[in-house]
Amino acid sequence: MDLGLTDRVAFVAGASSGLGYAAAAALAREGCRVALCSRDADRIEAAADRLAAALDLEDGRVLPLVCDVRDEAAIERAIGEAARRFGALHILVTNAGGPPSGFIGDFDAQQWREALELNLMSTINLCRHALPHLRAAARSAGHARVLMVTSVSAKQPIPSLYLSNTARAGVQGFAKSLAEELGLEGITVNTILPGYTRTERLKDLARAMQERTGQSVEAIEAGWAAGNALKRIGDPQEFADAVAFLASARASYITGVALPVDGGAVKHLL
Ligand SMILES: NC(=O)c1ccc[n+]([C@@H]2O[C@H](COP(=O)([O-])OP(=O)(O)OC[C@H]3O[C@@H](n4cnc5c(N)ncnc54)[C@H](OP(=O)(O)O)[C@@H]3O)[C@@H](O)[C@H]2O)c1
Repeated sequence: MDLGLTDRVAFVAGASSGLGYAAAAALAREGCRVALCSRDADRIEAAADRLAAALDLEDGRVLPLVCDVRDEAAIERAIGEAARRFGALHILVTNAGGPPSGFIGDFDAQQWREALELNLMSTINLCRHALPHLRAAARSAGHARVLMVTSVSAKQPIPSLYLSNTARAGVQGFAKSLAEELGLEGITVNTILPGYTRTERLKDLARAMQERTGQSVEAIEAGWAAGNALKRIGDPQEFADAVAFLASARASYITGVALPVDGGAVKHLL
């Protein structure tokens, strides 16, 4: 299937490693020009070099940008720079790191605010600043795409992930509102909900749970794997393939959807 992504321009946030990097690589593999951002210049430049080398890309098809998505001014600069350098912006993938794990007594109000800045406000601000460019792209190219990386915890809260459970639910409400408003303009808005997937974030979560419970990391991971239908942890590439499809021209009648990529961990009927 031709995904129709050749020469589309994508901006992927939180992309120096993990799911964001895999998403950026999948989009570049399908022919997109990709701007990718993270907080750290060395890490994001290394990621861009790695991606260009792995896919043997021509110069100028990957643009590394430093942007802390908690900083609205940095978002505005990074998105503006991507649109200027590539001449358009057709696809936005919102993403960042995850907040710490813990229960109700573990966080003060400031830590709650920080989690909402990291995972909710960043998503809203990335969309706000990308929107004029996405609208222009939809007018000239017929469609544009917004994909928001959230978590299966948005559908089925995970007991130790209060901060994530709460912020993700906000993103789902925002996404659904945006999908409704932008449909007529040819812009689809979908969320992608990873289950347990092998990244640095997963290692951090396993270490935190090990400290709390005394279980080995192997036992923790085995428990996570046992919780889904496929009985294994996911690979970032499997997540990224779903991103590429939803970003593609082929996903033209899919909007307002919350797609788990979780090996069947979510047990709801719908
Ligand atoms: N992996 C899983 O099993 C899983 C499951 C459910 C949900 N999720 C969620 O999916 C998202 C991505 O997860 P992941 O596993 O890929 O995490 P990860 O391995 O920790 O990678 C996070 C990426 O985001 C960047 N980043 C972190 N904070 C940022 C900020 N403030 N501004 C810009 N970039 C930032 C990091 O780069 P720098 O350090 O260079 O800034 C890194 O490239 C997270 O929100 C996570 O909670 C993951």
